[in-house]
Amino acid sequence: MTRLVVVGSINMDLVTVAKRFPSPGETLLGERFLSVHGGKGGNQAVAAARLGAEVHMIGAVGDDAFAQPLCEGLATEGVALTHVERIANCSSGTASITVAGGENEIVVVPGANARLQPLHVAKAQHLIGSANAVLVQMEIPLETVEATLRIAHAQQVPVILNPAPAQPLPMEWLRLAHYITPNQHELAILLGADPADDFRDLMRRAPCPVVLTRGAEGAWFREEDEPHHQPGFDVEVVDSTGAGDTFNAALAVFLHEGLPIAVRKACAAAALSVTRLGARGGMPHPAEVDALLARQRV
Ligand code: RIB
Repeated sequence: MTRLVVVGSINMDLVTVAKRFPSPGETLLGERFLSVHGGKGGNQAVAAARLGAEVHMIGAVGDDAFAQPLCEGLATEGVALTHVERIANCSSGTASITVAGGENEIVVVPGANARLQPLHVAKAQHLIGSANAVLVQMEIPLETVEATLRIAHAQQVPVILNPAPAQPLPMEWLRLAHYITPNQHELAILLGADPADDFRDLMRRAPCPVVLTRGAEGAWFREEDEPHHQPGFDVEVVDSTGAGDTFNAALAVFLHEGLPIAVRKACAAAALSVTRLGARGGMPHPAEVDALLARQRV
């Protein structure tokens, strides 16, 4: 069984479904509201657990009303929480999300996620040393992202860095990653480049291997220095929230099968994830991924 460590955010997602996004200053009547569990770290942990991995989470919640349900939600999915900190006098992370026509707009308030320190990752270094791979994103302090990269790299454990939300990072940090998994916009920000530059050129300029996500168009990756395109799978989009998280989790879970297979399965898992509402609503189990792969031979 693949053993993964996920270092990242845990949020309560406050989701409003509307026919369209409001303009600045406009009040709009929405169609539906729901609060569901999210956060890029929590989502990647749950997606990987559903796909059959043993998953350990390094993260933080506050001491508010959201903290307990968020932890229970992860535990119910089989995610190990020994390294999830409870921060006193602090709110848990929240994400206010508007979903319209399958697209989303998100405002994240980090809360306890901003208090996840390098020390918390260092405390779990033996766990990291025993993992097949580590997943980390950027809704936690950058020094904690750096510590994750360094601790995993020192123990020769591959790290998948999902650079979202994107910020420029030192090239030296990127060299510590086994793969980075941005979309085109995120990769441009990460490299301090022009987002209008050709994405293949951006991929070439990155100092580490890139698996570039292209939404419905699938993903691009380099294999033996040649760019490869994995087309996307055709599905009915309800809510794209969490698609990137599902992609990253599946990539980590299936990496031992080789990069082309892992990317294909990651595209299939991400496609399934957008067919239901909520970041974790459509995250699939392996049989669903296999069924989609058999139905659509892209
Ligand atoms: O990637 C989706 C996630 O981003 C949401 O669950 C939300 O919490 C934000 O962190």
